[in-house]
Amino acid sequence: MKILGIHSLTHDSGVCLYKNGKIAYALEEERLSRIKHHPGIEIEGKPPLLSLSWTLKEANLQLKEIDKFVHVGWKGDKFMKLDLARDRFRDFAKSLDPDTTRTSFVPHHKAHAASAYYASGFDDALVLVVDGAGDWTSTSLYIGEGRELRKVDEYPPDQSLGFLYSKAAKIIGLGDFGFGEGKMTALAAYGTQIHGFPQIIKTNDGKYTIEQDYFDHFMKYKKENGELTQSQKDFAFMVQTALENAIIDILNFAHNKYGKTKIAFSGGVALNCRLNGKISALPWVDDFFIQAGANDCGLCLGAAYLGAVESGEPITKMSDSYLGPDIKDEDVGSFVKSNKLRAKKLNDVAKACAELISEGKIVGFMHGRLEFGPRALGHRSLLGDPRNIDVRDKLNIIKQREPWRPVAPAIVDSDKQYCQLSKATEFMTKALPMNELAIKEIPAALHVDNTARVQVVRNKDDLFYTVIREFENITSIPAILNTSLNSKGEPLCASIEDGVKFFFTTPTDYLIIDKWLIEK
Ligand SMILES: [Fe+2]
Repeated sequence: MKILGIHSLTHDSGVCLYKNGKIAYALEEERLSRIKHHPGIEIEGKPPLLSLSWTLKEANLQLKEIDKFVHVGWKGDKFMKLDLARDRFRDFAKSLDPDTTRTSFVPHHKAHAASAYYASGFDDALVLVVDGAGDWTSTSLYIGEGRELRKVDEYPPDQSLGFLYSKAAKIIGLGDFGFGEGKMTALAAYGTQIHGFPQIIKTNDGKYTIEQDYFDHFMKYKKENGELTQSQKDFAFMVQTALENAIIDILNFAHNKYGKTKIAFSGGVALNCRLNGKISALPWVDDFFIQAGANDCGLCLGAAYLGAVESGEPITKMSDSYLGPDIKDEDVGSFVKSNKLRAKKLNDVAKACAELISEGKIVGFMHGRLEFGPRALGHRSLLGDPRNIDVRDKLNIIKQREPWRPVAPAIVDSDKQYCQLSKATEFMTKALPMNELAIKEIPAALHVDNTARVQVVRNKDDLFYTVIREFENITSIPAILNTSLNSKGEPLCASIEDGVKFFFTTPTDYLIIDKWLIEK
């Protein structure tokens, strides 16, 4: 069966194809449109036509061959802000399936919950969704049992933890919705308790209430000009802590009530790695999963899973995020030739890459299929030496990031352990405490509080794994710095052209694309 999951209504739109019993393709529209968080139909954006046509072409399918179209958002419902947007949404759905006999619509939070639960491979779990808001819901709790997902609680938009967090980030000058939140999570590590700070989120028996005058309190910390003050860092800490307390209270209560010991988490707030580290450390948690596209980009994935469940099709867990366009050797060769680039074909890509990194060089690294979700996981990455603080600082300069922001490590399993690697994920979603050996050997990979948002790399067949192993052979360090290959405010580089443009407009030392080493 061939099922298209489509998220077209709000930001981070995209398309996912379920085929031959598994998720075969998933791609955010931003990766092709080159508009970060590509806006949806509701916010006057275009439907995800580029990712749709790429998916169909890649799968060698026509629209008439698709068995099901599952859209995220309710058909013609009262929640649509504008009639024009509602019409556009209907028109878009009809343009794919004119008589709509193969078309269905699923609510935003249900798609989030499905993306987390079915991708987890769990058959018994608490499923939590926390985001800004979607389809009039901001937080929801589901129970996953077998193939069933059952909603047991939900909160309206005025109780949005996601919006509260976004507003806090914006107040202290870290950026708008979708841009400032990750920075605030990092900044919270520099803050401490503010005595007398009001309880902006009250918790009681697994239910939270946001004080509706919280924004008045936030205004006291508004950034005017210049550097961030300690008071603003403390504010970030307090808001982060309030968020953590509210979510952990929900989970603790739900664990006691429903007896579950596994958690699947999604929604934009599920990208909060510091929160996820705290959840991981809860004593009753046996397993805790966050899929690669936990934010709204993952809605298309959830929609495809829901279509598969409804059709009685098999469900397989997400084992990696490499679901987008591939890079082919011959394409790199012809690009190098036609653009007269200074480049050579490597005999041993992993070894050459590891050697450059060990010499303190920063290497753009592109191979294989593009990552789905906001994290670069070694296929469209910028790599550096985790031993060297100067390399981390240069990475922040290349990406025009604030110097206080951390860069994460990708780690392979080894005799040498830097953290409890069994708690780390392939998708770089949890900030974990790092040990004394890590502080000594990979200081550039640690945040100021000695945590790191670790990516564990387990697939021995992936070239990225071999790069880290080669780096270990040279340096005895089984880790490298890994950040995303993109300039400030831009989506992750997808194509050869995107990578080469990035390389020649930043002070990156080398670029490896597939088997080719490109120099300046
Ligand atoms: Fe959402």
